[in-house]
Amino acid sequence: MPRKPKPPAPGATPDIEAMIRVDHAGEYGAVRIYQGQLAVLKRRKGAAASVDTIRHMAEQEQRHLKAFDRLVNERRVRPTALEPVWRVAGFALGAATAAMGEKTAFACTAAVEEAIDEHYAGQIEALEDKDPALKSAVKEFRADEAEHRDTALKHGAEQAPGYKLLSEAIKAGCRIAIKLSEKI
Ligand SMILES: [Fe+2]
Ligand SMILES: [Fe+2]
Repeated sequence: MPRKPKPPAPGATPDIEAMIRVDHAGEYGAVRIYQGQLAVLKRRKGAAASVDTIRHMAEQEQRHLKAFDRLVNERRVRPTALEPVWRVAGFALGAATAAMGEKTAFACTAAVEEAIDEHYAGQIEALEDKDPALKSAVKEFRADEAEHRDTALKHGAEQAPGYKLLSEAIKAGCRIAIKLSEKI
């Protein structure tokens, strides 16, 4: 008996799919960075205030990640194949910078959040009046990321040793990660 062709799955267009994939990956990376920082700083004496601050930001990243988890499922977006890479690299970046000191941990946060802010700004522009649900999520999260960057700056990010070089290196790394996660 001839089978009826299935109707096409209600998926996202390729450009929207790439946006959701990279944002999902980025929020996951952010969660892993903060987890790495907390793993180190929780054990350090005198770092309780930083731990509280980072924990608050980490909770917001969890919320961002959950929202993109939902979008990935609803729109049937293929998640990035690089998840295992971001799992390790994110945690390692967080742990390594935290091991260098609280200010270096915040320098990492400032750099990452600046790169994400830039990325989300680009998406908001590219979306124009397409996909209001995605656009409003990106707008809301972008405000949180900007707040995270400001918090990090307030906590002395710029006083970290080698701040300029470290910041540029991390931002460059983030931009590469973003490019890769759109496609792969
Ligand atoms: Fe986030
Ligand atoms: Fe953030």
